[in-house]
Amino acid sequence: MNFTNKMLRDNALEGKTIVITGGGSGLGKSMTTYFMELGANVVITSRNLDKLTTVKAELEAKTGSKCLAVACDVRNIEEVEAMHKKAIDTFGTVDVLLNNAAGNFIAPTERLSANAFDTIIDIVLKGTKNCTLTFGKHWINTKQKNTNVLNIVTTYAWTGSAYVVPSATAKAGVLAMTRSLAVEWAKYGMRFNAIAPGPFPTKGAWDRLLPESIRGKFDMAKKVPLGRVGEHQELANLAAYMVSDFSAYMNGEVITIDGGEWLKGAGQMNLLEQIPEELWDQLEAQIRAKKRN
Ligand code: HXC
Ligand code: NAP
Repeated sequence: MNFTNKMLRDNALEGKTIVITGGGSGLGKSMTTYFMELGANVVITSRNLDKLTTVKAELEAKTGSKCLAVACDVRNIEEVEAMHKKAIDTFGTVDVLLNNAAGNFIAPTERLSANAFDTIIDIVLKGTKNCTLTFGKHWINTKQKNTNVLNIVTTYAWTGSAYVVPSATAKAGVLAMTRSLAVEWAKYGMRFNAIAPGPFPTKGAWDRLLPESIRGKFDMAKKVPLGRVGEHQELANLAAYMVSDFSAYMNGEVITIDGGEWLKGAGQMNLLEQIPEELWDQLEAQIRAKKRN
């Protein structure tokens, strides 16, 4: 099976302008690449303009589509409004906002300063709020319809997770925002959806969640029933569908793409996976014998 096949037809996003926060690295770059291959204009934003400028040149040469690179710290509303203005000045309209930028690191919660906790909440929750309010109000004021917001969350947005408590708290807020606005702003022609990825190797996430000294001890693939981590194109395929008009009736949804990882952790008897095949005859005999008592 080839997980890296591209799903949509070549011009599927032609005529759309898509803003991707954190679009210069990791999963954001992979989604941006595919959107451009499908004919979209894109705006990539993050704090590091040098990185964005290099990625812009690389992807324009590779795809022939247009990319605007804008430095913007999503924590700062003035910077978000300026980024939005540059996008409108360049492309006229924006059709899709993809809130992908994030900050995260593993730490016992009692080791976190108030500022450490705030930093993650500010990037993930306040950043998503800053972008959503700015773009949403503009769409309402200009009466632009057929727009949508795609938020990248995680599966621990609903399960919670130890050792990444600020991230779990913030992603839960983003999920609540997604579902709330899916209802409230549908009347303005906006859709809101989310993707909850399982483990997809990126430098940003692996450096902060699986530092080298513990990488050998925690094989992410082993947590996944399908026995592997995700391929970036698999996520890009899903994201392209969700921002496209093909998903026009999808609103308020969160789609998990994790090979079954979170359910493996949740199901009470899933640990029986460790029982070898030959033991099942014995176990069955023991259980049937109890039934006759
Ligand atoms: C404890 C820490 C810390 C650590 C930073 N801090 N790292 N505290 N343990 N490992 C504290 C600092 O001491 C400071 O608090 C506060 O956090 C802010 O730190 P700064 O370095 O000043 O912040 P900043 O420069 O804004 O950088 C933000 C960052 C950084 C989040 C700390 O890692 C970053 O830029 N990350 C962006 C990319 C990223 O995180 N990608 C991963 C996404 S993965 P004090 O009190 O000292 O001032 C993801 C995956 C989810 O989300 C699910 C996976 C399965
Ligand atoms: P990544 O490469 O570290 O991406 C994070 C991006 O956010 C970077 O481009 C970073 O760029 C940007 N960013 C950080 N702080 C910012 C700020 N204050 N303002 C603007 N941009 C900022 O990590 P990734 O793995 O691709 O993560 C992408 C998304 O997927 C995140 O939402 C993450 O939570 C989610 N996710 C990832 C995984 C996984 O396994 N990889 C699993 C579940 C969910 P700068 O540093 O240049 O600002």
